[in-house]
Amino acid sequence: MNSTQTWDPERYARNARFVSDLAGPVVELLDPRRGERILDLGCGDGVLTAKLAAMGCEMVGVDGSGPQIEAARKLGLDARVMDGEKLSFDEEFDAVFSNAALHWMRSPEAVIAGVRRALRRKGRFVAELGGYGCVAKIKKALVDALNRRGLDGEAAVPWYFPTVEEYSALLKKAGFSVGYIALVPRPTPLPGDVTGWLETFAESFLGRLPAAERPAYVAEVREALRPLLVDAEGKWTADYVRLRFTASRSIVGNV
Ligand code: BEZ
Repeated sequence: MNSTQTWDPERYARNARFVSDLAGPVVELLDPRRGERILDLGCGDGVLTAKLAAMGCEMVGVDGSGPQIEAARKLGLDARVMDGEKLSFDEEFDAVFSNAALHWMRSPEAVIAGVRRALRRKGRFVAELGGYGCVAKIKKALVDALNRRGLDGEAAVPWYFPTVEEYSALLKKAGFSVGYIALVPRPTPLPGDVTGWLETFAESFLGRLPAAERPAYVAEVREALRPLLVDAEGKWTADYVRLRFTASRSIVGNV
């Protein structure tokens, strides 16, 4: 997980509830069955994990954020603070599921190896993350505004947005067979203007600046994005692209 990003459950609920609300397609790909033991990798505040639990699955949620895990526990979930790049499970899950979390993990090989270890034989890995080109306009505005201040904007980018080819190759190399994988543009309406989004998801950029300079930076980025992301009615829409996939643990050497 990127160490400069923090998660405040209250701010997240206010600005990013759409993340769990828009998870229908990846839940459909997961096709959860009653009684299955499923790991939710990067479970955040647990709202989606709780929906899967309500469908009869035995859920365990892990997340790198202590405050988010506290929020998930308040929903009655088995939720644990754990680094997604250092999963410590051994062949105990029928499926590993992840929604909108893997793009925060910059060592995908470590994540995928941990997922494979966590899965029982024939277990499946089903996930959605930001894919290649995700939030490209927002990212460019953030980077450009840091560059204009004499900083290295690109070095502040905390996200990993892979292509289909790149992620398929990583999955296969780690001993998965890929069932489905696709890059899907998903323009995402925001609950307000882009300010809430920037304050929730762009801490890595804001953290490069003294606190007193951040409001002007956010305002500059917002105004650069206004002509690109606002429609005739004044509604903001973020330029999301999703990478969705299903993969199963291959039987290699009969293990
Ligand atoms: C995403 O879900 O694709 C996303 C979330 C926050 C920042 C960037 C991308």
